[in-house]
Amino acid sequence: MLRIGLLTSGGDCQALNAAMRGVVKGLSANVPDLEVYGFFNGYHGLIYGDYRLLTSNDFSGILTKGGTILGSSRQPFKLMREPDENGLDKVEAMKSNYYKLNLNCLVILGGNGTQKTANLLREEGLNIIHLPKTIDNDIYGTDMTFGFYSAVNIACEAIDCIHTTAASHNRVFIVEVMGHKVGWLTLYAGVASGADIILLPEIPYDDDKIVEAIEARHKAGKGFTILAVAEGAISKEDAKLSKKELKKKQEKEGYPSVSYRIAKMIGDRTGAEARVTVPGHTQRGGSPCPYDRALCTRLGSAAAKAIMDQKYGNMVAIVDGETKLVPLGEVAGKLKTVDPECKMIKEAKRIGISFGD
Ligand code: F6P
Repeated sequence: MLRIGLLTSGGDCQALNAAMRGVVKGLSANVPDLEVYGFFNGYHGLIYGDYRLLTSNDFSGILTKGGTILGSSRQPFKLMREPDENGLDKVEAMKSNYYKLNLNCLVILGGNGTQKTANLLREEGLNIIHLPKTIDNDIYGTDMTFGFYSAVNIACEAIDCIHTTAASHNRVFIVEVMGHKVGWLTLYAGVASGADIILLPEIPYDDDKIVEAIEARHKAGKGFTILAVAEGAISKEDAKLSKKELKKKQEKEGYPSVSYRIAKMIGDRTGAEARVTVPGHTQRGGSPCPYDRALCTRLGSAAAKAIMDQKYGNMVAIVDGETKLVPLGEVAGKLKTVDPECKMIKEAKRIGISFGD
């Protein structure tokens, strides 16, 4: 008898169901006696014993379905060691539910924060397999996270739509792209949709350079300019501030997000009408793109093999096109950022894209 637990934690993304289907199909085709327990709403379900025994029917027809059949929630890693409002020790509660169900392994799908808790549970002696989920693509140790390309498609479509209206009105348009503290999503969506200026957290921007790029386009007879701005983009001056100083400054300025600050600056300095579009959570919605479906089927199947081989304590990564087991202890707590000197940035700059630096 093999008993596994499954949970999806943190912000959702498009291919969570595809990944769980890969795991369960990979196991059920090869293990005669399998029980799969699904914990609801991420670690919340594991802490409070909210779970259900799942059947193969639960994993049928979900390859193309967005969201997660198990639900998800954010349970911050930094609060894991703090008791809940009723004094419950969350880590002990998770361990107790794991042992109560006699699980052989817990398969955890999530991003960076989720991975840190997965590693903590590994350190506490549980058998863990982690699958790297996030539209941000910022998980260290894997070339790709699932959800990323589906989100690139949506952000790219948003910028494509902006292109036609920007051209009719001779305006400056800013599309704010998700990605948390890193610029992968903005970089790929921006390049794929022909954005003129791309601003990433990893390359602090200079207002003068943004204005220069807009004016250069104007002089060249281009009436409009499109900026793809990462939600975490930051100016050169702001990058020098401490976290506390920055928070104080942002509160004083009162902009809903960085894009609105840039739009005001462009309007004031160039006289151009600047509009902001924020696709927001649409970037995490809808069905997974074919790349993510194939990626998750591979990662899920590789996770099934890792479980059958009892190679616990690993993230199932994709490295140089191949699935690979990467020890959680080597990657948890690390962030994969865009290297400002990478070839993709150099190639984009060569064709005239400005990064505001
Ligand atoms: O990590 C995924 C992500 O969508 C980020 O890109 C974004 O910053 C964040 O989650 C939004 O979080 P929430 O859904 O909690 O608003």
